[in-house]
Order: sequence, then structure tokens, then C-alpha cells
Amino acid sequence: MAFTMEDYRESAAYLQSRLGGFVPRTAMVLGSGLGDLADEVAQPICVDYRDIPHFKASTAPGHQGRFVFGLLEGRPVAVMQGRMHHYEGYSYEEVTYAIRVLRLLGCTSLVVTNAAGCVNTAWQAGDLMLITDHIKMFSESPLRGENLPQFGVRFPDASNLYTPRLRELARQAARELSIPLREGVYFYCYGPQYETPAEIRAARILGGDAVGMSTAPEVIVAGHCGMEVLGIALLSNMAAGILDQPLTEQEVLDAAQAAKEKFSALIRTCLARL
Ligand code: HPA
Repeated sequence: MAFTMEDYRESAAYLQSRLGGFVPRTAMVLGSGLGDLADEVAQPICVDYRDIPHFKASTAPGHQGRFVFGLLEGRPVAVMQGRMHHYEGYSYEEVTYAIRVLRLLGCTSLVVTNAAGCVNTAWQAGDLMLITDHIKMFSESPLRGENLPQFGVRFPDASNLYTPRLRELARQAARELSIPLREGVYFYCYGPQYETPAEIRAARILGGDAVGMSTAPEVIVAGHCGMEVLGIALLSNMAAGILDQPLTEQEVLDAAQAAKEKFSALIRTCLARL
């Protein structure tokens, strides 16, 4: 299924009709168990994905499936409380559909968060990682198919998808808050099964520090349409095979719960300076 410019515009027009003149500037995607930040949005306008033309519902646990528009740290934001994943059965085009709609609404930056497995054995579960780059070379691009030039060029540069200015801003914010912040490469795997120990060893050899099932598709699309991107991962568990124990979703959600406060402080401080 290929979306047309008309589809994106219809979705944006529906949202505009709900927003009464409010123009969001920063899009935020909150990952597994990290959606609580949306509850801190002032003057919230909530819109369920299922009410928006051409949108898909988010079915993943810990993902609510709605937008919360409003102010966070005084910034006009569009928070995605829950995202779509390829493993839910959506195409990459569907997974990234919302990003383009938010761009049409006026968003010029994207703050993207996720829970990820920790591949780097020098680090620990519970750490936060500033995403400096990603590897998503074993699955198709969300930009596959006819290019829509209203969004960007056919062959977009991907050398600085995670905007250097925003990375620096996050480092400074973390320093001021005394929150340790790792930096590294997010290795995308489409799931839904967690990786095998051999896959994690391969990811490490290829340069991955964290592994997860989201983020990279949305960031590719955001970069294509000229948005600045800040990516922060919560390393919720050591990746497969590092510890002698099976991975569970509960472990991921518990880690997100435990990291909630430092995570929210870091994101809010970054937002205030965006
Ligand atoms: N692998 C993939 N995705 C994840 C993980 C993991 O270990 N933890 C949280 N999301």
C-alpha cells in the first residue's frame, strides 16, 4: 500500500481540525513503558490514532496509541504515546506515517526514545544512551517506493541523522543534571523475537552498542523531510546471551518504570533548550 501526498494531507487536516490553531514544533515518540511523560503535557489535546484518517492503531504492550498535543517546558509538542512497529504487521511506510503527518503540521524536530537491549558489555542495564547513529541494513527502507519530493530527495544523505547540535545539547543537559549518559550506535532488529546470542555477537562486531525494534525507521523518514532528531535509549536489559538468563518483556517494562524519573528529567531539560 503506497500512501499519497493526499493521504498525508488528509490526516494533517483532520488533526488541524482538532487542534484549534495550535501548531506543534517538536514531535516526540515515547517508547515501551516511557509513555508517562505524555501525562505531564500542559493544556493537553488528546487524539486517538484510530480516529485519524489513514492511521493505524498501535497494538504493542506499554503503547497507548494516541497523540497528546500541548506544552512541555513551554514548547509546543506533539507526543506520540505509543508507536507502530514492523513486527505488529505494519509496513515500514505505515510505521513512519505519523512522522510525515507531524512534519506537515509544523514539527521541525523529533525527539525519539526507546527501550533497548544493551550490547556493549562495559555498560549496564538501566543506563541511558544518547543515540549517535544507527545500523538498519538488513531490512528494507521506509523510503522504498515512489519518492514524494514534497518531503525530500530520492537519495537523502544519512551521515548526520541524529543531529549533532541536539546531541551536544543532550550531553550538556545530562552533565548539569548529573545523569550519566552513554553514547553509541543503535542496531535495529525487526523482532518480535528477541535476538539470539549469535545475532548479538554479530551486532557487536558490526559496531552496535544497543539493540532494539524501533526508532531507525522513524528517524530515516524524519531525516528525509529535514527534521532535526534527538534519540535517547533506555538500556533496559543486557542483550541476549550476555547474562545467563532469558529475556522477558516484564524486565523491559520494569526497567522503564525504574528509570522514569531520570529519563523524564533529561528529556524535559533538552526540550527546554531545543
Ligand atoms: N532486543 C530488542 N529489543 C529490545 C530489547 C532487546 O534486548 N530490549 C528492549 N527492546
